[in-house]
Amino acid sequence: MALTITYLGHAAFHLEADNTSVLIDPFITGNPSATVKAHDLAADTIILTHAHNDHVGDTIAIAARTGATVIATFELGTWLGQQGVQNTVPANHGGTVQFNGGSVKFTPAWHTSSFETDDGFVAAGLPAGLVVRFGGRTTYFAGDTCLFLDMQLIADEGLDVAVLPIGDHFTMGPKDALRAVEMLRAPTIIPSHYNTFPPIEQDVQQFRGDVERSTSSTVIPLAPGESTYL
Ligand code: NI
Ligand code: MN
Repeated sequence: MALTITYLGHAAFHLEADNTSVLIDPFITGNPSATVKAHDLAADTIILTHAHNDHVGDTIAIAARTGATVIATFELGTWLGQQGVQNTVPANHGGTVQFNGGSVKFTPAWHTSSFETDDGFVAAGLPAGLVVRFGGRTTYFAGDTCLFLDMQLIADEGLDVAVLPIGDHFTMGPKDALRAVEMLRAPTIIPSHYNTFPPIEQDVQQFRGDVERSTSSTVIPLAPGESTYL
């Protein structure tokens, strides 16, 4: 089995294995770094880390077009069902959910989780990280989070890849992300949630150098639209 991970910009990723597609946090419309259109994306499954608009993104429209199953934490998954998403699987921290071709285990993340509508904010439970077993690989999407010591427990999942935010301001920045790399012990690190907007601009090559000098992990900085094959 082989896994293709394509970065869609910001915190959005497309995973493909055996002609099966998974979207993570598909914020495409309004994403200044996106190089694709939401209506061109394939999805059998959509998995969300939390409810912020820069993560839920085009979920409702993509699910309506593709019939994709949407997996999210309980309040967010339930709310999306109320918004008309046909197939939702509301889950929660510590739980593992099977989907077409793989599974996802929800981990904690330190952040907030609300969706902004024209009528104000909808509170949508707690944010999460995701341990995704798919395409023969175990990939941890930290979601939006600060550094936390329980990443040592997540390392015990046996990670092949860790996708970590490095943008600072709303999440951990590069210095804390380096400490996360040390705890997670994933051979491959993919940075995310940076350079989309001015407050989260970062020098990804400096982060790569810092990680590769002081750990045995390799950093793969993906440009939006770029894929890596694992
Ligand atoms: Ni967020
Ligand atoms: Mn975010």
